[in-house]
Amino acid sequence: MGKNATIEGLRKFRKKLLRERDPWHDASRRFRIRRFAGPECFLEHLEGLRVAHLTDLHVGRVTPMAVQYDAVAMTNAGNPDVVVISGDFVCHSQVYLDDLTDVISKIDAPVFASLGNHDHWAGAEPVRKALLKGGAEVLDNAHTVVEIGHQRLQILGLDDAYTGHADRGRALKGLREDLPVIGLSHIGEEADALWEAGVPLVFSGHTHAGQITVARLHELSVGKLAGHKYVHGLYGSRGVGDPEGAVYVGAGVGAAVVPLRLGERAKREVAFFELGEQPGAFDEHHGEQPAHPGRKPSLKTKERRAQAVRRKAQKRERRDGNGSGRGAGLDS
Ligand SMILES: [Fe+2]
Repeated sequence: MGKNATIEGLRKFRKKLLRERDPWHDASRRFRIRRFAGPECFLEHLEGLRVAHLTDLHVGRVTPMAVQYDAVAMTNAGNPDVVVISGDFVCHSQVYLDDLTDVISKIDAPVFASLGNHDHWAGAEPVRKALLKGGAEVLDNAHTVVEIGHQRLQILGLDDAYTGHADRGRALKGLREDLPVIGLSHIGEEADALWEAGVPLVFSGHTHAGQITVARLHELSVGKLAGHKYVHGLYGSRGVGDPEGAVYVGAGVGAAVVPLRLGERAKREVAFFELGEQPGAFDEHHGEQPAHPGRKPSLKTKERRAQAVRRKAQKRERRDGNGSGRGAGLDS
């Protein structure tokens, strides 16, 4: 073995040791599998259709690839009919898009995706391409019908509301009233208006369940400080005839900045929803929770968030000359 190879080996070993001793680096592959029934209104349409929900993969430097492949293995082991992923596929750059494609391509069931704020920050078009290449269908303010045997389910995807890309009118256009529908929206609070438009179950992410849920800290950080009504888990109602609907906010798989996850509710998560099953027919992780008061972002905040996407795109343009940013700059 050459001198350089020995030093490189030692460096890797040291990095591994430091990572294992660093309580802030959670390379843990501990996941929680959570299982719920769908809304009652699906009982007349569906005999039993299993949806797996993943969110916030954040394929990149912060989350070990072993974690991504564990998520895929657990998803496939649950034998879902459909897999839905509600955004934040990357962190800050386009460096890991081939890895993202590989992860998505290893999911056995049909995959439907909507984008999140990090996807827009990193460059939405290349992220879309990576997802398509992996075999996913990306629903940008659009809907589609999936056929599983003789059962049909509409899936609607709202583009990211955080960065101002959600267009509900466009997403809902042409939606059929005679077929059951589920929605995808990175931001959970968008569910309120989707319920009113006849989408009784929405899958979301973005919050990572607060990542630190000991002493209910996530309710303070994500609920009170960040102003989210829906922090983690199931909210709303799945009852028939109820004017509301339900939203499920997943804890996510990865992280973009701080990798730490502390507390039971903060664990990495794959959730399974049994559509066509009566709520209460089997043990669920928890029932519908009361929403937090929440706080809508001001116009100024919305404009600042939209500007951030433009600024990052301009920065890529300046750096690469073609706006792709592939393989350059930030590596997370
Ligand atoms: Fe995220």
